[in-house]
This record gives sequence, structure tokens and C-alpha cells, in this order.
Amino acid sequence: MLVRSTLRFLLSLCLPTISSQPTSAGLTYIKDSSTSLFCLSSLSDTQLIRQRVTREPERREKKKKGQKSNSSWQKPGALFRRTAVKMPSHKPISLLATSMLASVAAAASRICASNTPLSCHNTTAVDDTCCFIPSGQLLQTQFWDTDPSTGPADSWTIHGLWPDNCDGSFPQTCDASRAYSNITDILTAMGADDTLHYMQTYWKDYQGNDESFWEHEWGKHGTCITTLDPGCYDDYVPTEEAADFFSRTVSLFKTLPTYQWLADAGITPDGSKSYALEDIQSALSQQHGADVTLGCEGKTLNQVWYHFNVQGSLQDGKFVASAPDGAKSTCPDSVYYDPKNGGGDGDGDRILHG
Ligand SMILES: *[C@@H]1O[C@H](CO)[C@@H](O)[C@H](O)[C@H]1NC(C)=O
Ligand SMILES: *[C@@H]1O[C@H](CO)[C@@H](O)[C@H](O)[C@H]1NC(C)=O
Ligand SMILES: *[C@@H]1O[C@H](CO)[C@@H](O)[C@H](O)[C@H]1NC(C)=O
Repeated sequence: MLVRSTLRFLLSLCLPTISSQPTSAGLTYIKDSSTSLFCLSSLSDTQLIRQRVTREPERREKKKKGQKSNSSWQKPGALFRRTAVKMPSHKPISLLATSMLASVAAAASRICASNTPLSCHNTTAVDDTCCFIPSGQLLQTQFWDTDPSTGPADSWTIHGLWPDNCDGSFPQTCDASRAYSNITDILTAMGADDTLHYMQTYWKDYQGNDESFWEHEWGKHGTCITTLDPGCYDDYVPTEEAADFFSRTVSLFKTLPTYQWLADAGITPDGSKSYALEDIQSALSQQHGADVTLGCEGKTLNQVWYHFNVQGSLQDGKFVASAPDGAKSTCPDSVYYDPKNGGGDGDGDRILHG
């Protein structure tokens, strides 16, 4: 009873903060920057556009037909981790309440000044990497996978959120000790159920090994984002930074509805015709506010990368659209944008295009 009324009170504190942060809408929880409480969002995912996509093997490495089944993030045993016992549905709430109460008792996470330099735009060295990301071009990468079709037919899917060194090179696998192999459990334990459920639809591995895919994305890219270092949390709860990474990636993805943006420009999946690459680039860059990087497999469009610089931390900072820092489109001037489920036999593109 006490817990419940306290929870309701704390939520009432949280809600104004949530509604003032559009990009946080639909998050399972956000960390309130002024009170450091975990806040439940009351906003539904439905008001946030749709999108989704596919898989991907190695970053920046084109998928090769016939080699798809042994992607780098697959690790022995990964398939068996999905059998972890699901917690009763009331448990996350009581856990959440407990963590909220704990947060009240103890100091919480760091608040960044509003005048920190925009990443990749500092003119002198910035010491506080808890409020500044040195590898500060962040790429929200998405898939459109039709072979096999992955995710909803009317949405691209999440690939990841990658830090770049502002020059096209990138760090990777920065802290093996935090390469967690229990992302699903972490999100559940941290009360990030909404994020997890969203990921189960929109952050899909093309072979169905979602947990392994998430582990790969976190271990390879997420551990390189300095504001997620445990030392950046005043009251660090182990693994909470991974929950922050996935929640932020999801909230950012929701602001980048590639399928809808293309459809609004009259560009819809169609197995019988090709589109000018510049029309696709133009439609997406107008919406995003900067050029995007487009990826193709042969002549078939299958990836888009949205580039950002960040002011402040990944957790609470402001993401600003920026031009690609070195990445180049791998697409020809004229591309196919295939429907999902178009072929039904996993070979639709070749059948449709001869
Ligand atoms: C993938 O790896 C497994 C186990 O290492 C192996 O048995 C299988 O043949 C591999 N598949 C491909 C397509 O290389
Ligand atoms: C920006 O800050 C980072 C981190 O301190 C530093 O490595 C980099 O050299 C700085 N850039 C400039 C132009 O001073
Ligand atoms: C996830 O794994 C880490 C160690 O890698 C462990 O500290 C943590 O307790 C685990 N979390 C859950 C919810 O199982």
C-alpha cells in the first residue's frame, strides 16, 4: 500500500518531464534528469510512427548470399538463453517501485550542463566524457530486409546505434567486462518492458536470434559510448547503462520513420520498378535535416544510416542531425525497393528483377 501510493506520487512527478521530452515518448522508463527517478511513461507506442527492418552481419560489410547463417554476433549457446524464466507481470512494477524508492534515498545520476559542446564540434579537449561523447557521431542504423523478410511489412527495423570517431572510423568492443549476455533479462529487471516489447517487433535478427543480435550491438558499439560508463552514474546499478542504451536507441528510432517518410514522397516497395537513388536521398534528408547514408545489396536498397551529433549524454542529451562523417552510399544511381514477403521463397528480389 505504501509502495503503491509512493509509486503513484513519484509517477506524478515524472509525467511532466516525460511529456516535455518528445523523443522519450513511449519509453518504458526514462531517467528524470532533475530527480533521477525512474519514470514510467504513460504514452503509448501507437502515437509514434512505425518502422522497422532487418538484420545485418558485420557492420559495413555487405551481406554475401549463402554466408548469411553464421553472423558474427551469433555465439554458441545463444539460442538457449531465450528460455530464461519470465517474471510474473507484477514483478517488474514492484522492482521498479523498489528502485524508485532506492533512488529517492540515494543520490542518482549525473546532470549535464546545458552548454556542453556539441560532439565533433569542440575546439578544445573536453575532459568530462560523462557529458560529452568523443566518438561523437552517432549513427542510428536501420534495415529493410526482404530476403528473408524481417519485421513488419510497413516498417524498417533497427540495426543499432553506433559511435563514430567524427571521421568515419569507429571504436568497437570497448569493455569486454560489460559485454552482457542477458539483455532480455536486463531490460526486464530494469523495468524496461515497453522497450523490450518494442524491440521484439522492430529490432529483429533476420535469423530470429534477437537476443544474440542485441548482445552483439551492445558489446560492439554500446560499450564504446563514454556517457554510459559506470563511472558516469552516481548511484550505479550494474547493467543499468545497457538498459539506457536500448531505450535511447528505440526512442531515437521512433523519430526516424523511414517507411513513412519514403511513402510520403511516393516511394513505396514495388518489385516491378526501380527508383532514382537521389529521390530516396532527397526524401529522407529533407525529413532528417541532413544527408543519410544509403546501403544496398547489389541494386537492392536494404539499409539507411541516420547521422547525429550529440550535446550532452546519450541518456539525456540532445541529438542533432549531421552530415555523414565519412560513410559512403553503396548504392547505384537506380535502386530496387522490394516489398517484404514479396517472393515468399526468400529469393524474391532475383525473381522480381530477373
Ligand atoms: C554455421 O556454423 C555451424 C556451426 O559452427 C556449422 O555447422 C554450419 O555449417 C555453418 N553454416 C554455414 C552456412 O556456414
Ligand atoms: C574534442 O574533445 C575530445 C575529448 O576530449 C578530444 O579528444 C578532441 O581532441 C577534441 N577536439 C578538438 C578539436 O580539440
Ligand atoms: C546480467 O548479467 C550480469 C553479468 O554479466 C549480472 O551482473 C546481472 O546480474 C545479470 N542481470 C540479470 C537481470 O540477470
